[in-house]
Amino acid sequence: MYTVRKVTQDLYWVGANDHRLNLFENIFPIPRGVSYNSYLLLDEKTALFDCVDWGSANQLVRNVEDVLQGRKLDYLVIHHMEPDHGGSIEEICMRYPEVKIISSEQGFEIMRQLGFTKVDEHEQIIVKEGDTFSFGKHTNAFVEAPMVHWPEVLMSFDVTDGVLFAADAFGSFGALDGKLFNDEVNFDRDWLDDARRYYTNIVGKYGPFVQDVLKKAATLDIKYICPLHGPVWRNNLGYFLDKYDKWSKYEPEETGVMIAYASMYGNTEHAAQALASNLCEKGMSNVVVHDVSNTDISELISDSFKYSHIVLASVTYNLDIYPVMKNFIMDMAALNLQNRTIGIIENGSWACTVGDKIEEFVDEQLKLCDVLNDRVTVNSALNSANKSDMDSLTDAILDSMKKNKELKEKAQSR
Ligand code: FEO
Repeated sequence: MYTVRKVTQDLYWVGANDHRLNLFENIFPIPRGVSYNSYLLLDEKTALFDCVDWGSANQLVRNVEDVLQGRKLDYLVIHHMEPDHGGSIEEICMRYPEVKIISSEQGFEIMRQLGFTKVDEHEQIIVKEGDTFSFGKHTNAFVEAPMVHWPEVLMSFDVTDGVLFAADAFGSFGALDGKLFNDEVNFDRDWLDDARRYYTNIVGKYGPFVQDVLKKAATLDIKYICPLHGPVWRNNLGYFLDKYDKWSKYEPEETGVMIAYASMYGNTEHAAQALASNLCEKGMSNVVVHDVSNTDISELISDSFKYSHIVLASVTYNLDIYPVMKNFIMDMAALNLQNRTIGIIENGSWACTVGDKIEEFVDEQLKLCDVLNDRVTVNSALNSANKSDMDSLTDAILDSMKKNKELKEKAQSR
């Protein structure tokens, strides 16, 4: 039982930690690694809930054998068929020839699409919303959670112990490295940024579907949340549910400013830094500044979900938006980011068009986003003529924060 952790009296974490993978989904950097969470129930019947990535199958197999102690595996429940979890299904099929597989209809379809021919040698049990399945003392109720994060996703709720198997929801980048529960880590300090980066980049587009799941979850007496990545939650659940509620409603977590700049020779950077200094000078120090050329886009997306105000500072390039900045704002639109106040700093040595291009993009592609009128236009480098425009942009940001606060207070007092 070297790496196994006990979740409840009958449930064990038997997953894997992966520090070898550099890019999750071959796109998102994971310097702290990632965990693939798999859980094994020992009841009158035994049941394995989800698997791990193919490359980590050895850890799963070892852990399952350690917990089963010679018992046979009766059921394999697949809540989500993305290969970071489903990748080792065939390994389990080969090792446990009598195992019966429980999944959604589309889950089985995707197994076949992926060429998992072994699955067809096993009894298949299709479950859907509202179905229940008893393993003995424990009965799981199945809940469909389409698009959190693929269409076939199921969650299930162990009504006996109040355990929600939440699939990709409530997950995070970061390997567990022994610390399984949220109360064994300093989540706010060490995990929240990676949890936000995971959610916003992977599920961010599907906020309304997450809202549907949160409404279903509100009717359950949940004692444990067992996600497929990251820590298991066993207390203070409201903290994380509230984060998910905000993220999926596209409400900012914090009143503050993310300034993202695209600068070729440091002059647009200087303007971005000048705005940051101005904001701090006037009392708004919740400001982060990112160079879009040197910051992974997943971090830019994460912070754009976090902060209420976003300032895009870009040089003009080919009479258009600097390519890296364009990629960032296109990703914001792809992930459905909305409900933000946007400021613009533009730079051009001749034919400065980037501000108009950004404004046009925001108006057409980002829902419920207001662009502040107080744009700063830089001709190559900041000069004394920019001072009053920089002050105006700073004041416009602070004014809109004040207005948002008043509107919020008014809404709360109703
Ligand atoms: Fe962790 Fe959508 O798979």
